[in-house]
Amino acid sequence: MLASEAHAAKGAGLMKPQSPPKTYRVKSFGCQMNVYDGERMAELLGERGIQPAPEGEEADLVILNTCHIREKAAEKVYSDIGRLVKAGNKAEAQGGRAPMIAVAGCVAQAEGEEIMARAPAVSIVVGPQAYHRLPEMLDKAAQGERATDTDMPAIAKFDGLPARRKRGPSAFLTVQEGCDKFCTYCVVPYTRGAEISRPFSHLVTEARKLVETGAKEITLLGQNVNAWSGEDEKGRAAGLAGLIHALAAIDGLERIRYTTSHPNDMDEALIAAHGEVSKLMPYLHLPVQSGSDRVLKAMNRQHTAESYLRLLEQFRAVRPDIALSGDFIVGFPSETEAEFEDTLRIVDEVRYAHAFSFKYSPRPGTPAATMDGQIAPEIMDERLQRLQSRIAQHQLAFNQASVGKTCKVLVERTGRNPGQWLGKSPWLQSVWFDGDYAIGDLVEVQIAEAGPNSLMGLVRENAAA
Ligand code: SAH
Ligand code: SF4
Ligand code: F3S
Repeated sequence: MLASEAHAAKGAGLMKPQSPPKTYRVKSFGCQMNVYDGERMAELLGERGIQPAPEGEEADLVILNTCHIREKAAEKVYSDIGRLVKAGNKAEAQGGRAPMIAVAGCVAQAEGEEIMARAPAVSIVVGPQAYHRLPEMLDKAAQGERATDTDMPAIAKFDGLPARRKRGPSAFLTVQEGCDKFCTYCVVPYTRGAEISRPFSHLVTEARKLVETGAKEITLLGQNVNAWSGEDEKGRAAGLAGLIHALAAIDGLERIRYTTSHPNDMDEALIAAHGEVSKLMPYLHLPVQSGSDRVLKAMNRQHTAESYLRLLEQFRAVRPDIALSGDFIVGFPSETEAEFEDTLRIVDEVRYAHAFSFKYSPRPGTPAATMDGQIAPEIMDERLQRLQSRIAQHQLAFNQASVGKTCKVLVERTGRNPGQWLGKSPWLQSVWFDGDYAIGDLVEVQIAEAGPNSLMGLVRENAAA
């Protein structure tokens, strides 16, 4: 197929007609917003009578829900398509069917035309703001028409989705999407579009529904979740703190979290909420990216290391036990050794409970990709290793400080051994413990041992023994 054919907005050429799929599998990569989108696509397919493929069986429809944030993540989609085509050819040779392939998510948004041109086996390309139209696209694909939809009517998407059916103790709820910040390294403003906030009443309704179907904990999601704004039920202007206060009033909802925040969207009310709302968990993910003001400026972060540290102090003042988390990029173009050491310094100063760190990855179309001073891969590797070992030290220290404490653990799943459970502490640590419980229970546990990535707990009545 010619690349120019792929330009047709909602039809991108022809292929062999395929019988409508009866089973599906969604594979989500990237951030939690993609996980949420993956769940919503599954609900949409469920409404059409398409069932999840049984474990270990091939699905009639495979949705690759992709991430474009770094090169490695983006390239994964092509190797996955290759694998699916191979498996499909084998299945067809044995009289079975090849799966229908749909590419969703941020790579679909950024490289939809390229995917259609490079991968003729792909039937559907659907961007993160258009997947409510997946059913129509499936109909087209069944008739042998390839379909692309990368429009960005973000609010329309939510209106076009069925009611939530997700079951489980911990649920995601997207409240805000998109980004207007344009950090010079980042693709998100291009793949997710401008910042939008979902209306207050829709969010309260969706949260209630999630609680009715078993959620004890809701994590509010947004690329810049603390940029959420709306009007409450009385028509008063509300920020994320207002929304959190309203959700905290829902009976049966025990825990509220939110991620990811941007330092420049933080307000007093949200900081104060950590001292006022007992259901709001003592955890904050606030990326800083670098400890060097020169690098932060080149990244267009619009905050300094100092202003970031001052913000964290305010959180610690209202919630001294708060667990702090962040994101870091090493090897941003022209980052010097001394500037990298500023990043190590900020890590020591904050004493993170947890943090993500990445090697800078040049992304097509972003300003940083063409900046002078791109850093050699060996230097990036070495810096990443040093940063990660520093973060790991603080993480272990944070976990060790929990030993002896008693806290509530929300049971999320069974452990490896019979009678063993895995849950989360208020500080988002994974806690293993034994006993006679069920998923969704909130169990009082005393922390007995700490490792770098998880804790061992004893249930209180057994703990005294
Ligand atoms: N909106 C959030 C997170 C966006 S993406 C925020 O601004 O904090 C998640 C993380 O990926 C970012 O915080 C950043 O650390 C990392 N990231 C984004 N673009 C990157 C790139 N080009 N190379 C390496 N890491 C990147
Ligand atoms: Fe990307 Fe920056 Fe927006 Fe975060 S704030 S999504 S890093 S552009
Ligand atoms: Fe990746 Fe898109 Fe999320 S690029 S990190 S899936 S917003």
